[in-house]
Amino acid sequence: MVHIPTRGEVPVRLGPTITPTPDYGPRKMSRDPYTDPVQYELERERVLGTHWILAGRSEQAKEPGDWVSFEGHGETVVITRQPDGSLAAFHNVCQHRGPAIVKDWQGCGARRFTCPYHGWVYDTTGKLVGVPEREDFSEEHLKGVRAPAVAVDEWGGWIWINLAGPEKAGSLAEAIGPEIMADLGRFAMEGMILHEVVEWDVPVSYKAIVDGFNEVYHVSELHHTPPEFTKQARVASFHIVGDNYMCFVPRPDTLDKLAENWDHHKYAICHYVVFPNTVFNCNPEHVQVFNPIPLGVDRTRFLCWEIIYPGDMNDPEYAEYYKRTMAHWAALKVVVGEDIAIYEQLERTKQSSAYKEHILSARECKIHRYHETMANKIRD
Ligand code: FES
Ligand SMILES: [Fe+2]
Repeated sequence: MVHIPTRGEVPVRLGPTITPTPDYGPRKMSRDPYTDPVQYELERERVLGTHWILAGRSEQAKEPGDWVSFEGHGETVVITRQPDGSLAAFHNVCQHRGPAIVKDWQGCGARRFTCPYHGWVYDTTGKLVGVPEREDFSEEHLKGVRAPAVAVDEWGGWIWINLAGPEKAGSLAEAIGPEIMADLGRFAMEGMILHEVVEWDVPVSYKAIVDGFNEVYHVSELHHTPPEFTKQARVASFHIVGDNYMCFVPRPDTLDKLAENWDHHKYAICHYVVFPNTVFNCNPEHVQVFNPIPLGVDRTRFLCWEIIYPGDMNDPEYAEYYKRTMAHWAALKVVVGEDIAIYEQLERTKQSSAYKEHILSARECKIHRYHETMANKIRD
């Protein structure tokens, strides 16, 4: 049996008893956050360097010695499965003269990592354990040297890292928050499997991509959805949860069923944003994670992860699930392609003197709130 997510004990989030938009109202905001290099540097230091960000699927590093890498906003990190089943993470930076220690993105069976330049050797937690011709160095200089540790944790079958390091990082559970953990937890992502990761190199700020997933206003025009979807999307509810967000959009043709018990897991597209750049898009049968990783102030590596429920292809019920899900995933990739096309339009106006500010509707509240949160976090 394929897992069918249901609302369970989670509160009703849609319907006549729920206020669909927070009391926030229409707003305006400057366009500067998307192009200001000074702000980007502050974000690297105070947001991307101190918050929990996604680094892969747990299943990519299953056995002791398996490892995956994260690379983004100028940082490079290696995450390795330890013999006790936990994960360790460290900056992929040789402490001798600075190059990346590990070349590949992913591997298995590692016991040591050796820098390709002069052969300094690190264990799978990043501790320096070997230096060729050690007698030529000062022991004082080598004492306690390690590739700096990065905090790492797992939730929902995802690997998360925090560059602040194990001493300073707060807890991942607190960052996601109990409400999102409970609501998003109903999809049981820890039991899902990775089907595909699609990658785009996009010529705009990562925040412009988060914006695109923080509203449904663009769906009718950009994605050419039928009028029924537009009508149903107006029933959507938007929720601000600390620094994070939830949004629930009734799926086409489900409004009647939804009204029976307001089971948003079963009958709505459930959408969650974990600040600063992890976006979960949950259809009942499969989940996409949209992960815009900044490479510069206005350049982004945009990863789209597709995870599905596992099963036996010989089981006709599962084979049918798989076929249905794959057809929907193929359609979604076309939709994401349309979003990418808009980022190209945004690239053309990046330096335009006529692009000064955004005029946001009440139902674009998450966008204004997101940039307000960002501004508060980088403030002195
Ligand atoms: S730079 Fe890594 S061993 Fe020299
Ligand atoms: Fe879109």
